Amino acid sequence: MGSPTTAPTTLSAAAAVDALTEARERTLALVASVSDEDLERVHSPLMSPLVWDLGHIAAFEDLWLGHRFGGQPLLHGELLDVYDAFETPRAGRGELPFLRTAGAREYLDEVRAQTLEAIATGDIGDGLLHELVIRHEHQHNETMLQTLQLARLSGYEPPLRQPGDAAVYATATGLELIEVPDGPCTIGASDDGFAYDNERPRHRTDVRGFLIGRSPIVNATYLNFVEGGGYERREWWSDEGWSWKEEYDITHPGGWTADHAAEWRLGTLEPLDPYRPVVHLSWFEADAFARAHGARLPTEIEWEKAATWDQETQSARPFPWGEDPPEPGVHGNLDLLGAGPAPVGGHPAGASPYGCLGMIGDVWEWTSSAFGGYPGFSAYPYREYSEVFFDHGYRVLRGGSWSTRIRISTPTFRNWDLPERRQIFAGLRIARDL
Ligand code: AVJ
Ligand code: FE
Repeated sequence: MGSPTTAPTTLSAAAAVDALTEARERTLALVASVSDEDLERVHSPLMSPLVWDLGHIAAFEDLWLGHRFGGQPLLHGELLDVYDAFETPRAGRGELPFLRTAGAREYLDEVRAQTLEAIATGDIGDGLLHELVIRHEHQHNETMLQTLQLARLSGYEPPLRQPGDAAVYATATGLELIEVPDGPCTIGASDDGFAYDNERPRHRTDVRGFLIGRSPIVNATYLNFVEGGGYERREWWSDEGWSWKEEYDITHPGGWTADHAAEWRLGTLEPLDPYRPVVHLSWFEADAFARAHGARLPTEIEWEKAATWDQETQSARPFPWGEDPPEPGVHGNLDLLGAGPAPVGGHPAGASPYGCLGMIGDVWEWTSSAFGGYPGFSAYPYREYSEVFFDHGYRVLRGGSWSTRIRISTPTFRNWDLPERRQIFAGLRIARDL
């Protein structure tokens, strides 16, 4: 067994070039028809200006492939701090001397030309840093899409959603529960191939039996909660959640209007599709919804067991459905450029061995778990990827959303954010003790 941080990937030089190229196409497609002014503006205090993401994507590639891997001087060493996400948190980014649109695009081109030249004349080593850079660009694409949606900027072309099988999804409310009996499972990424440091080491653990939702909670079910006094019943909320809700006068999920339900029924708004998963929930709201139903959020361990554990073979599957990589429209609502959620539960081919649907794709799902290191964690390749966020109040989200790129849509991937955040394409799946 290799050490948890040095396992070789199966990435070839040719595959690296293809993936880097494809990643860049998606980045540029996202901003293709956004004006320079909109790229440079701060649309939400929670998000960077889009042009910061562009320069940061370039700077990350410059640092890891040009400088650290290739031994080249940084193309923009003077901007290292400005593009360091940890040194310079999102809220303060609007005022910084980062590159404006033309400069950021140039930086992207320059650093990419250098990367491709180095691959053509050299090699990619064990491929880990190339994989890191590809996935980094993928992750920022989802952040950029959140900014685009928060700002209600058009300028990206959503491909058609894949609605799946109506006979199946029409029955999904999110409240149907599946039993996962007592027993062991393995958690985390295997030693083969690339995984983020926070997914390792893979370890065995015992999990008490529990119940978990067959699918994420859909809009119709969440609407019942809203209309049933969900945001008024103190007893359903944590102390912290209640203070947050009161302070910001929260009465419905992000993206709904106060009268969304009424107007939806009168047909004056874009329809609030009753079958789609509820999205743009904070952890506080997800937690309150679960309590209102005599339930709770799953731990991330329970979530991963329900997604991957195959009781018959006593082993974890690479994906809920087996070994095949995720296929959009087959295994779930996956990897679409801003098309938004599809009705949940309509992709039975994506079911886990226990029968859970939509675990990969659809919406990110909040878990009850605080973000921390697995036993034996060691930081790779830099502490600021995940370790500095451990035990600072972040909660783990699992499963990816409709816009998460396939390459990073795995059941061991751990996303994290603060419990009050709602910009993520996040909903929930409930759980309950057996
Ligand atoms: C895993 C989404 C929480 O955006 O802070 C991007 C991903 N890390 N660049 C983030 C990330 C460095 C990270 N999340
Ligand atoms: Fe980043």
